[in-house]
Amino acid sequence: MPSITYPGADPAFEAAVRERLDAVERVLAEAARGDSAYVTDVAGHLLAAGGKRFRPMLVVLASQLYGGADPDRVEKAAIVVELTHVASLYHDDVMDEADRRRGVASANRLYGNEVAILVGDYLFARASSTVAKLGPEYVELQADTFARLVQGQIAETRGPEPGEDPLGHYLAVIADKTGSLIAASAMFGGMVAEAPADVVQALALFGEEIGVVFQLSDDLLDIASDTSGKTPGTDLREGVPTLPTLMLLAGDDPADARLRDLVSRPLADDAEVAEALAGLRAHPVMAAARAEIERRAAVARQHLAPLPEGPAKAALRALADTVVERSA
Ligand code: IPE
Ligand code: IPE
Ligand code: MG
Ligand code: MG
Repeated sequence: MPSITYPGADPAFEAAVRERLDAVERVLAEAARGDSAYVTDVAGHLLAAGGKRFRPMLVVLASQLYGGADPDRVEKAAIVVELTHVASLYHDDVMDEADRRRGVASANRLYGNEVAILVGDYLFARASSTVAKLGPEYVELQADTFARLVQGQIAETRGPEPGEDPLGHYLAVIADKTGSLIAASAMFGGMVAEAPADVVQALALFGEEIGVVFQLSDDLLDIASDTSGKTPGTDLREGVPTLPTLMLLAGDDPADARLRDLVSRPLADDAEVAEALAGLRAHPVMAAARAEIERRAAVARQHLAPLPEGPAKAALRALADTVVERSA
């Protein structure tokens, strides 16, 4: 059951959305089935653990802009984006040496890095097989999206080039690694609904912006929340910069010297992670980062202007609000 919902929707609309998302759930596990019980188990591990299904939700909401599209195509598009997302999570947890995901042990912890990487590839292949049934424009968008996502992950790993502004680098990374697939999800919804080109373009801009907001929020939760289903402080441990740590590093207040040192390098020591978490949680950069999240969510909402009025548009607007509230 997705934990992201949109308040205020009318009951008939909500029921139609729920019906599509339930159908997506039923076919997702089937789409990830392998030729052996082992592959089925590993590929099903994170799918069964849940997750918010934020990207399928965007597909379904956007697909309702004109009163509902072909249900089979909506389901396929939703499966493609969730499988692509989950594939990227298997790989991401290897890169980030993460222990937990969706409230359970990560695949790399349970099955080792090699299997986690290969099963990520397997899930991506399953997504490709489904997207092929939707048509060449969908195949191209999914391929271009995954190319962007992966290049974002590579750029994050590599860090800024000499002389590159670290904040600009970070924002480009999150647009590529997260904004790209969320934009594609919104576009897929519009495409299956046969929306006109200007509406698909508006959905792309909305999705990209809300995707950046989503990642900014997620990065704040890594610091602020003990209940995200992931281990808090993973970014600090890995030395991955985020908006509040970049804001801190851009300052020069001598009182922050120790905290700046902690967030400027990977932290292997649990006590240092705890110290950095406590220091950041009490620091004004958290409120400054939240203000930036609000600002960008307002930009995202403006991109909805060309969409036809109705419950789907209202739900997309409400979804933007929930992304902000997640880290408030
Ligand atoms: C996690 O995505 C990776 C990011 C891009 C932040 P989600 O927060 O959508 O993860 P699930 O699907 O709910 O587990
Ligand atoms: C995940 O980024 C982005 C992708 C999977 C492409 P993060 O590494 O920041 O996300 P979490 O915190 O592990 O979910
Ligand atoms: Mg990660
Ligand atoms: Mg990562």
